[in-house]
Amino acid sequence: MSMVAASPGNLISVQAMPSHPVFQMRYRKVVVQSPATIANFGPGFDSFGLCLESPRDRVAMRLEPDGSRSVRILGEHDLPTEPGLNSASFAAMRMAEMCGEGDVGFSLTLRKGMKPGSGIGSSAASSVGGALAMARLLGCRDRALILEASAMGEELISGTRHFDNVAAALYGGFTFVTCGDEVEVVRISPPDFQIVVLLPDIEIRTSDARKVLPKTVPLAHAVDNLSWAAGVVHSMMRKDLDALAKNMNDRLSLPYRRELIPGFDSVCESALDAGALAVSIGGSGPAVFAIARKGAPRIKKAMVDSLWNTARLGSVSFVTSPGKGARVESIS
Ligand code: HSE
Repeated sequence: MSMVAASPGNLISVQAMPSHPVFQMRYRKVVVQSPATIANFGPGFDSFGLCLESPRDRVAMRLEPDGSRSVRILGEHDLPTEPGLNSASFAAMRMAEMCGEGDVGFSLTLRKGMKPGSGIGSSAASSVGGALAMARLLGCRDRALILEASAMGEELISGTRHFDNVAAALYGGFTFVTCGDEVEVVRISPPDFQIVVLLPDIEIRTSDARKVLPKTVPLAHAVDNLSWAAGVVHSMMRKDLDALAKNMNDRLSLPYRRELIPGFDSVCESALDAGALAVSIGGSGPAVFAIARKGAPRIKKAMVDSLWNTARLGSVSFVTSPGKGARVESIS
C-alpha cells in the first residue's frame, strides 16, 4: 500500500495500483472475516462504499503442499464449489498469481454470513476474504494487490470490475474510489449512526440491475449528483449526520432501479415516518437501507410491515452500524 496523502484528521488516501509485493513470513492456516458493505451510498454510484459492522463472511484457508484445491461452503446458501467459479477462491488464485505462486494448492472453507444477490456486497465480502487469506498465507501485506485480486473476484460474479464494495470491505469505514488512470481509494472514518437494512425476498443480479441504467444522463442530473456527493464526503468528514441525510439523494441509478423493487416508495415513506434520516437502495438492490440517529428497531418494523402490506413480500432485516474492514482472526 502506498500512502499518497494524509489528513486532515480522519482521511487517508491509498493508491490501489499493484506494486511490488513485499514478502514476509509464510503461514499454513488462516481464518479471515470480511464484512458486508453498501455500495453507491446515495449519490456515489460505483465510487462510494460503506463498510457494515455486520454481517460478515468467514474464510478459513489452508495451504495444501500436494497442490490440490477445494472449496467448501457452510451455511444455508448454495454457491459454486468449483475453485474457478467461486468468488473467494477465484480471488485467492489471482492473489497467488500476483505473488508469483500461481500453482499453490489450498483448501478453502467459506461460511457465508450474508445472502448472495441481495445488494450488500456478498461477492465482494467473499472476494476480499479469499484474497486477504491467500495474501497472509503467502506472507504478502500489500493492500493494493489484495484490492486488485478482490476486484477480480467481484468481476467474476457481477460482470464488471467495480471497486466500491471491495474497497469498503477491505479498508472499512466510508470509502470512495477514484477511477482515473490509477484506481485510488480514500477512506474516511464515518460518524456513529444506526443503519437499518431490509432485504426483500427477491434476488436482483448486479448485471441485470446495470442493464436498466441509461448509457447517458442529462447534464442537470449529473450536476445534482456531483453536489450531493461532495455534500456526503464533507458531512462524513465533519461527522454531521443531518447534513449527510440531506445529501443522500441520487439521480443516476435510483430512479431506474426503484422500479425493480416492489413497494420501494412505501418502504421509504414508512422509514422516514418512523424517524429515519434518509433511505436509499443498497448497491444494485434489492437491499433498501435507512440511516438513523436512534429508533432503529421501530424503523425496521415499519419497513418490514410496509413491504409486506404493499407488495406482499417477506424480507430479512437487521440493524447494524458503520464497521471496520476485513481482518485476520487467527493465523498459524
Ligand atoms: N456500484 C455497483 C452498482 C454496486 O450499483 O451496480 C453493485 O453492488
